[in-house]
Amino acid sequence: MDKFYTTTAIDYVNGAPHIGHAYEKILTDVIFRHYTQRCDNAFFLTGTDEHGIKIQKTAAERGITPKELCDQNAQQFKDAWKALDVNYNHFVRTTDDYHEKVVQKIFKKLVEKGDIYKHSYTGLYCSGCEAFLNEKDLTEDGLCPDHLKKPEVVSEENYFFKLSKYKDAIIKHIKQNPDFIVPTFRANEVLNQLENIEDISVSRAKSNVSWGIDVLDDKEQVIYVWIDALSNYITAIGYDPDGSSEQFNKLWPADVQVIGKDILKFHSIYWLAILMALDLPLPKHILAHGWITIDETKMSKSLGNVISPTTVIENFELPIPDAFRYYMASAAPCGKDGNYSDEDFKEKVNAHLANSMGNLLNRTLSMLVKYFDGDIKQEFKVETELSKQAEQTVKDVMHHFDYYEIQEAAQKIMQLVDSANKYITDSEPWALAKNGEMDKCGQVLTTVLDVMCIVSSLIYPYCPNIAKDMANQLSYDIGTKLQDLKTDNIKVGHLIDKANIHPVFLRLDSELADKSQKK
Ligand code: MSP
Repeated sequence: MDKFYTTTAIDYVNGAPHIGHAYEKILTDVIFRHYTQRCDNAFFLTGTDEHGIKIQKTAAERGITPKELCDQNAQQFKDAWKALDVNYNHFVRTTDDYHEKVVQKIFKKLVEKGDIYKHSYTGLYCSGCEAFLNEKDLTEDGLCPDHLKKPEVVSEENYFFKLSKYKDAIIKHIKQNPDFIVPTFRANEVLNQLENIEDISVSRAKSNVSWGIDVLDDKEQVIYVWIDALSNYITAIGYDPDGSSEQFNKLWPADVQVIGKDILKFHSIYWLAILMALDLPLPKHILAHGWITIDETKMSKSLGNVISPTTVIENFELPIPDAFRYYMASAAPCGKDGNYSDEDFKEKVNAHLANSMGNLLNRTLSMLVKYFDGDIKQEFKVETELSKQAEQTVKDVMHHFDYYEIQEAAQKIMQLVDSANKYITDSEPWALAKNGEMDKCGQVLTTVLDVMCIVSSLIYPYCPNIAKDMANQLSYDIGTKLQDLKTDNIKVGHLIDKANIHPVFLRLDSELADKSQKK
């Protein structure tokens, strides 16, 4: 594998980041970090989607310019990702100059190709979706099913993109590449949507929407939503119809584009058609993740249950975001919906990170110090059963990541930790030491510590700070590529620094969780 390029959806900046946005960014960061452990050239793009009527209206209500509003809100997203250690390489904003210029060129190229044409149109426009809706998509009362608002009847002369021209090619691509849409069960949904696909409006009259990118040769129109938003994935890495950058040629096509299930249609249909029209290769996978609910309830402003990720960090007084990252990344099976609750968060991270993983490391290291002064002076044969499971776990985790099964990979890591806990309980190294069976005792301890080196590598994408801390206490090089991971990391001469032994994760106490609930 010589490169890995991953992207997230770009978030609308008409509100603050919430836990649903955070879920996607953490999931992508975990995937990205895993692939940095497998290849040297991994790249992670995220950003914000800043044009459209909603921003224009909110800015007007607040008496500021749309750009000022975008600047304020985009910063909140950047701050949130920083607090969560979401380690992107580039943050694209659709108001960035380079993006706007290339979007104009893309539009022009598609006009010249005959794939974009001007057409008078009367449609039902939902400002919540920033999209025209079909009559058959509305509720019985004629409302938008997502926003429960009556769409306006809008008559405009707009530019249209010939989506229908690419219908057969897209169907063929999806059928011939059954793993293109992850999880695969969503492919049928997309194929059904393709049945009724029509050309789409890709501009708005400036008289109705002014906050957008101007069409180059038609100052009365602004480029609207999807050509602007979707193009971020290529403009941000240097695509240019007049000659792309070296970086673009190296990174494109994306290996996996991570998005929510609600925008799968746009990514597996509209985006493919735009790329086909530009004669560009298609992304290898689109990962459509599920929806995050709060206490099993859909998050909504009206219910007042929208949670910001930084609030969780603050309420639980987390010095590092690892526990929240671990919880979110393993919140749902691949593509399925997941849930956040304070109680479950606390229970799960206490059980997995403090009790099982942290405690095992801490007591094993402490025993090594107690019985051997932290110094491996002789060759101890490692226990084969547990070591074999560790080797198999490395393969299983890589396999799960190949299918973007992030929760499933985390479960494999915890199963290995559980086995190591069982092994140490069954082997009773403290009793062996008491009986003077020091060879056997050393063998048990080094076997477990060896496995913990592997655990630190595998858990790194989820819990980067904890993993580095574990590796540091183990005097282990966490930079080893996953394909080169081996058992036998604790060799003769390996020295544990006894002054450096400390718990890698402290249990979240119940009072803090109560405090969070009260807020
Ligand atoms: N701006 C568009 C995406 C354009 S991509 C070229 C958009 N923005 S959004 O802010 O509404 O959503 C951004 C991402 O967050 C989407 O992938 C969406 O699915 C995801 N989520 C928004 N709420 C969510 C949950 N409650 N749970 C999980 N993800 C959710 O759509």
